[in-house]
Amino acid sequence: MLAAIGSAIGLGNVWRFPYICVNYGGGAFLIPYLVALFTAGIPLMILEMGLGHKMEASAPVAFRGTGKGREWVGWMAVGVGFMIICYYAVIMGWCANFFRYSFNLAWGSNTEDFFYNQFLNRSANFKDVFSISGPILAALLISWVLIILCIWKGARSVGKVVYLTVPLPWICLVLFVIKGLSLPGAEQGIAYYLTPNFAALRDSSVWLAAYGQIFFSLSIAFGVMIAYASFLPKRSDIVNNAFIVSLANCGTSFLGGFAVFATLGHYAHNLGLDMEGLLALHPDKAKGFGLVFLTYPTIISQLGRAASFFGAVFFLMLMTLAIDSAFSLVEAAAAAFMDKYNAVRLKANFGVAFVAIVIGLVFTTRAGYYWLDVIDYFMNSFGIVAVALLECLVIGYFYGTRNIREYVNSKSEFSIGKWWDVMIMFVTPVILAISIALEIKARILGAYGDIPRWVEFAGGWSVVIALPLISILLMRSRTRRPA
Ligand code: PHE
Repeated sequence: MLAAIGSAIGLGNVWRFPYICVNYGGGAFLIPYLVALFTAGIPLMILEMGLGHKMEASAPVAFRGTGKGREWVGWMAVGVGFMIICYYAVIMGWCANFFRYSFNLAWGSNTEDFFYNQFLNRSANFKDVFSISGPILAALLISWVLIILCIWKGARSVGKVVYLTVPLPWICLVLFVIKGLSLPGAEQGIAYYLTPNFAALRDSSVWLAAYGQIFFSLSIAFGVMIAYASFLPKRSDIVNNAFIVSLANCGTSFLGGFAVFATLGHYAHNLGLDMEGLLALHPDKAKGFGLVFLTYPTIISQLGRAASFFGAVFFLMLMTLAIDSAFSLVEAAAAAFMDKYNAVRLKANFGVAFVAIVIGLVFTTRAGYYWLDVIDYFMNSFGIVAVALLECLVIGYFYGTRNIREYVNSKSEFSIGKWWDVMIMFVTPVILAISIALEIKARILGAYGDIPRWVEFAGGWSVVIALPLISILLMRSRTRRPA
């Protein structure tokens, strides 16, 4: 269970959650976020854990267990997770590089120039895909060595590693909350974070963003929770565990928000601005990667003698946050191959790693930043949402929610009622279907972030289309182990 918590708590809590909050108007975001947690996050967490535990298998074989012809849904989940690990490991590598830079504050005073021009050496467009950067590639390989070592013995080694990688970033985070709150100007950042803006609730995109963030953050729809639940002892309390993982995760995001918004408030204060002014004048530094690789280094450099210490702790925190999320994705994919093809663990791990590194190479090039952004957007907006929708439909309308509900209730101290069926059959799928439809419409009307259409196709649509096809092929391939 600690591993499941480790998977859920990742960069999504400390980096993605706050910047999505910023994008959607600070306090405006918290209400849809909580609604998404209770209507979709927790119900799907129970679904995935219940399914994995019941079938004692990772996603593809678990879905095969619900009926013929459904295995591909499991492969889809694994496939989306696989695409994510390809770039997640690269970002982990960036953090490793910045960990090293923090010892001499190598980013200097112009963090923007440092990150984009010196570190990423970002090219002007998407075409520069052969210019691999040595330090970034080296860090990517180091990330992968660490990931493979953590899952060397599967659940047994993971179980030990997470005793370190779950509490350590938490301690660092608490340190940053305390430090952040003590900085002058922190209070205006916190006020921005906590003041609800009811007018924003009328905007459908806030709601869609909230659902997307909940899935990403809870590691739902990647086959991770299905695989992890399949490793649980038979006498585990599923409902309890699903609530613990979900609430621990969202509690961490909420806490992470304090560290980030306090720091942003301080940053605005230094520039003599208020939060609105900061967002208007320096959008790059308040959202997206900017926060972690541009704004934090700036603040860290201003901490005097303790600067290197805080820098190192900050990037160590990010790395330990990321690693258990990263290896949960690898574990989900490797477990799928082990379950279906009876593959040996080591072979499965190395196979997944090898292909992911080869695909990840593109993100280590001068154009890598752009491609990373495209694939991240497509996987989060279409991949995850499609898988979550398929999971709801398969369980809701083909397998029967009752089968899962009665199973988890037989294993749990407190039971879930019919409300759960309503969520899985109606509420969640309706919201997800609307969300996909609106997003497809938006993409037909205009390319994502005004990127060239060919890039959108090469980095996004082609993957979105290939995933179900490959999943069906894998489903049809010969099995070595009966379900
Ligand atoms: N939940 C992780 C995070 O918040 C990311 C992740 C997604 C991990 C999918 C595993 C699977 O960063």
